[in-house]
Amino acid sequence: MKTDGFHTRVSAELADIDAQGLTKPERVILSRQGPIIEVGGREVLNFCANNYLGLAGDERVVAAGNNAASAYGAGTASVRFICGTLGIHKTLERAIADYLGFEDAILFAAAFDANGGIFEPLFGAEDAIVSDSLNHASIIDGVRLSKAKRYRFATSDMADLEAQLKQARADGARDIVIATDGAFSMDGYVAKLGEIRALADQYGALIMVDDCHVTGFMGEKGRGSFSHCGVQVDFVTGTFGKALGGAMGGFICATAPVVQLLKQRARPYLFSNALSPAVCGASLEAIRIAQGEEGDELRARLFANAARFRGAMTEAGFDLLPGSHPIIPVMLGDAKLAQDFAARMLELGVYVIGFSFPVVPRGQARIRTQMSAAHTFDHIDQAVAAFTQAGKELGVI
Ligand SMILES: Cc1ncc(COP(=O)(O)O)c(C=O)c1O
Repeated sequence: MKTDGFHTRVSAELADIDAQGLTKPERVILSRQGPIIEVGGREVLNFCANNYLGLAGDERVVAAGNNAASAYGAGTASVRFICGTLGIHKTLERAIADYLGFEDAILFAAAFDANGGIFEPLFGAEDAIVSDSLNHASIIDGVRLSKAKRYRFATSDMADLEAQLKQARADGARDIVIATDGAFSMDGYVAKLGEIRALADQYGALIMVDDCHVTGFMGEKGRGSFSHCGVQVDFVTGTFGKALGGAMGGFICATAPVVQLLKQRARPYLFSNALSPAVCGASLEAIRIAQGEEGDELRARLFANAARFRGAMTEAGFDLLPGSHPIIPVMLGDAKLAQDFAARMLELGVYVIGFSFPVVPRGQARIRTQMSAAHTFDHIDQAVAAFTQAGKELGVI
């Protein structure tokens, strides 16, 4: 039988995505990650990396990655439990657990895998997962992989969270876990962990927080959203692919028995290669910097940059989502407009990306800008000037 129909269908779907202005092009970068990058043969300002502390291109972080590769080679050619656990994996697990203030940690190839692997081994059919409606795709996928009963609450709506907790209890749940992003990646809104903690205590629920867009720069010494809100949580998932060096790799911090159970049962851990030594070395150096005094300076600079950008953009007439997080969405609404805006910004020397469906809801397309400690005020002012010019040309302001 012929398979032409399949290929025709794929091409038609692509054409449809394009017709809706939803195609996400890949722009090729030919330099290190940083506030200034080389794109299309010229240098442009970069305002869309998750390089919050500016460590992705840091000489010390790169050197630590290189040194680890020299010592341990390119990788393990094995999953952890066969012959893939290196000394540097144990060092990194200890370092991230100590930094965030947990008993133990388990590494994954990505935070996507950490979120994909956490629920299924810990929560069965008798249990309930109560999940924020705006949670990252990887949490949603992880929840789907568990047999636990699912409940969803409207994002950051504490009355709805309480209603779902009540329902889960009424349904006879054995254990209940509330799952939330620490900061929501498309909006920069921080989860209301103080209120979530109080409800969790009232209804006897555990709390799982995904701190991918928090670890390293919010809370005491950058420990995370739970520290920022002054509460304890049961499980933190996070990434080394953003503030902590920007390489890649994920982790879960929890109690020692939880980590031990995950090491026996979490499928992305059991059936996927161990984190590469270079990634471990770079991440260790990033953690060292983040938890020291230099980290305090970087965090101060990051938030000063965010405040300057928010202030100037608001004054220029742009519609921003409120807050103080270094994720600063410039709301445009229309997907095609967001694409055109980003393309014009690149011509003006500023690399930003238009976000549209399915990454954000339909009709809420935006340019999600992200500040870095590596930006200078001059970079911020240049970006605002470019936004202002493009905004006037495209009728946004
Ligand atoms: C909230 C959140 N969770 C998880 C991830 C996945 O992280 P990683 O790139 O380490 O897989 C991301 C990255 O986009 C994220 O924003």
